[in-house]
Amino acid sequence: MDLFEYQARDLFERYGVPVLAGVVADTPEDARAAAERLGGVTVVKAQVKTGGRGKAGGVKVAKSPDEAEEAARAILGLDIKGHVVKRLMIAAGARIDREFYFSVLLDRANRSYLSLSSYSGGMEIEELAVERPDELARIEVDPLEGVTAEKAREIAVAAKFPEELVDKVAPVFEALWSVYRDEDATLVEVNPLVLTETGEVIALDGKVTLDDNAAFRHPEHEALADAGDVDPLEAKAKEHDLNYVKLDGEVGVIGNGAGLVMSTLDVVSYAGEKHGGVRPANFLDIGGGASADVMAAGLDVILGDPQVRSVFVNVFGGITACDAVANGIVGALGKLGDEADKPLVVRLDGNNVEEGRRILAEAAHPLVTVVDTMDAAADRAAELAAH
Ligand SMILES: Nc1ncnc2c1ncn2[C@@H]1O[C@H](COP(=O)(O)OP(=O)(O)OP(=O)(O)O)[C@@H](O)[C@H]1O
Ligand SMILES: [Mg+2]
Repeated sequence: MDLFEYQARDLFERYGVPVLAGVVADTPEDARAAAERLGGVTVVKAQVKTGGRGKAGGVKVAKSPDEAEEAARAILGLDIKGHVVKRLMIAAGARIDREFYFSVLLDRANRSYLSLSSYSGGMEIEELAVERPDELARIEVDPLEGVTAEKAREIAVAAKFPEELVDKVAPVFEALWSVYRDEDATLVEVNPLVLTETGEVIALDGKVTLDDNAAFRHPEHEALADAGDVDPLEAKAKEHDLNYVKLDGEVGVIGNGAGLVMSTLDVVSYAGEKHGGVRPANFLDIGGGASADVMAAGLDVILGDPQVRSVFVNVFGGITACDAVANGIVGALGKLGDEADKPLVVRLDGNNVEEGRRILAEAAHPLVTVVDTMDAAADRAAELAAH
């Protein structure tokens, strides 16, 4: 999960990384009030999870509350690389002497961590890496040792900070490392880290990516999620612990086991070519136990997608036998009642398949068609979605 700049700023502050005051504002009026509260020169900054905000007109200096309000009016609603600005941060203005770059990130290729840093900041890091690679220090950070005081100095020296600045930036690198380690981040980037005219080192911008695989260790991170940004169907699936990914086709897909669902997507895409190019609408793995509750939750998510025109339930009975799955399907349709309103093509195979098919035949639900093979079932589901 990527954080907004204001969230990164708050984290930094908690870890003792020097930052400037910043206040979140969602309207021009709030921006004016924030600027009044902060006093002096402020900077109005778009809060979007993409880079290059400054260049896109999303960062504006305001000398007065009036100007802050005006800047907010200009920035709110702006589209920055497909991200519409809904929120601003009004930051205290810094008098900048020099800009630097610092980041620490997960280096997957080398199975380690990597710190990137440069005394020459103020430009996009991708540009610096290409145009002046010798000014970008790449220092490996041992995950077990981290950025110690000694390592922080090594990074500063490699990044060509002059001697008198090394002692000033090194503790900031250490604090940023603590953010990275203790929050289980995969990226902590500060661009720019600045030296002010009065000689202080301050993180003026912050980009943090948290490792979702470590979310279980950080229940507090949930509050950082951007509720407005989550697909409602994916949110619903998550509530039920279902593994669901929304795609853009018309055939809803449910299966048990990620491998089976992946190949189901393939056969549906293939079959769909014969039926006007219909495609899978989603990936949904209901896992091992296909009980009525799980099946109902899965169907509920898929049927909630207005693009879905038919559903393909593809289950291979293993530990959970086909009769249990069949009962799950019948139970789920009973639970959903009128909410189930799209045709279902069911293919069952594996453990106790005869009994499973018998249960479905006996229930004779008007929406359900049972097809014996995966290819034929995919073809039928695609055909139904095409009409
Ligand atoms: N609080 C501040 N006071 C003074 N100048 C600032 C402040 N915040 C930002 N700036 C100036 O604006 C420039 C751009 O700001 P910032 O780095 O936050 O946005 P960006 O780099 O355009 O966005 P992104 O990092 O998303 O690409 C900075 O390099 C700095 O010169
Ligand atoms: Mg920046």
